[in-house]
Amino acid sequence: MAIERVIDTSTHADNDEEKIVEITLRPNNFNEYIGQERLKTNLKLAITAAKKRNEPMDHVLLYGPPGLGKTTMAGIIAYEMNANLRVTSGPAIEKAGDLASILTNLADGDVLFIDEIHRLRRAVEEILYSAMEDFKLDIVIGKGPAARSVRLDLPRFTVIGATTRTGSLAAPLRDRFGHQYRLEYYQDHEIRQIIERAAKILGSEINSDAANLLSGRSRLTPRIANRLLKRVRDYADVNGDGIIDYPTATSALKMLEIDELGLDPADRNMLQLMLDNYDDRPVGLTTIAALTGDEASTIEDFYEPYLMQLGLIERTPRGRRITAKARHHLHKKP
Ligand code: ADE
Repeated sequence: MAIERVIDTSTHADNDEEKIVEITLRPNNFNEYIGQERLKTNLKLAITAAKKRNEPMDHVLLYGPPGLGKTTMAGIIAYEMNANLRVTSGPAIEKAGDLASILTNLADGDVLFIDEIHRLRRAVEEILYSAMEDFKLDIVIGKGPAARSVRLDLPRFTVIGATTRTGSLAAPLRDRFGHQYRLEYYQDHEIRQIIERAAKILGSEINSDAANLLSGRSRLTPRIANRLLKRVRDYADVNGDGIIDYPTATSALKMLEIDELGLDPADRNMLQLMLDNYDDRPVGLTTIAALTGDEASTIEDFYEPYLMQLGLIERTPRGRRITAKARHHLHKKP
């Protein structure tokens, strides 16, 4: 079944217990959501207008690096619209028939969240065009000379598409989204507030200098901030009295091998391999992937955006190149 869940849970939590924690940490409405001010302002206006007209909201495309809150924002939009949220993803919808079944089961006003929308198959994407544009479903019944095409009416619904790359979205699909927003990396003080909010929900006490330390190592990304907080909380529960203070947080981060810039061993490994094999020469994405043993898309979607944001690697027409800042950072390591 291509609908994965009706109410959202974390796609990145790795066990059930963590999923439950994720759900409780996730903000449910705009008031609880910290950061992304421009996005919130635009969405609030659009939601108020749609509700005033008693219409579903125009389709929304959210793009940007992983972990910045695209799924969370979809949940909030549905909540603020008083709508049901249906969650699926590009790779989960294998056939045109899967999408047809999702669409015909929607109710008026529903919000359909499609994660990784850039991974929709072409045949599926084509069904989505008329569904999004005219709320019609074009299906072919029968085969060969007896085949005929039928046009069904669909309920009026809102698609929220999420992608790490708008570049990979076909223009006809992209153009059907009336709202297109990029989620930005968070400000340091926002990450700090997110950590303090999460600690409160988890019932953990955290000192302000420990919260500062964690926020500085969270790659400006709420998902990483919450993950680090949970790991440091484990450490404080096992090795101390459960209070997260500066020395506890420092020791826990050391154990996790998260450095001052928030880089983990995998990030440093990639930079080191680039340095050792290419020094300051550019190297192609597929070569980097071959060196680290990852998929090129993993490098592009997960590692590279933050390293680029920090100015540790740069894109050139001939590939990626590590910067003087990265060289300096690596040389500091033992
Ligand atoms: N948890 C994860 N992302 C959040 C955000 N933007 N605001 C508050 N809590 C969060």
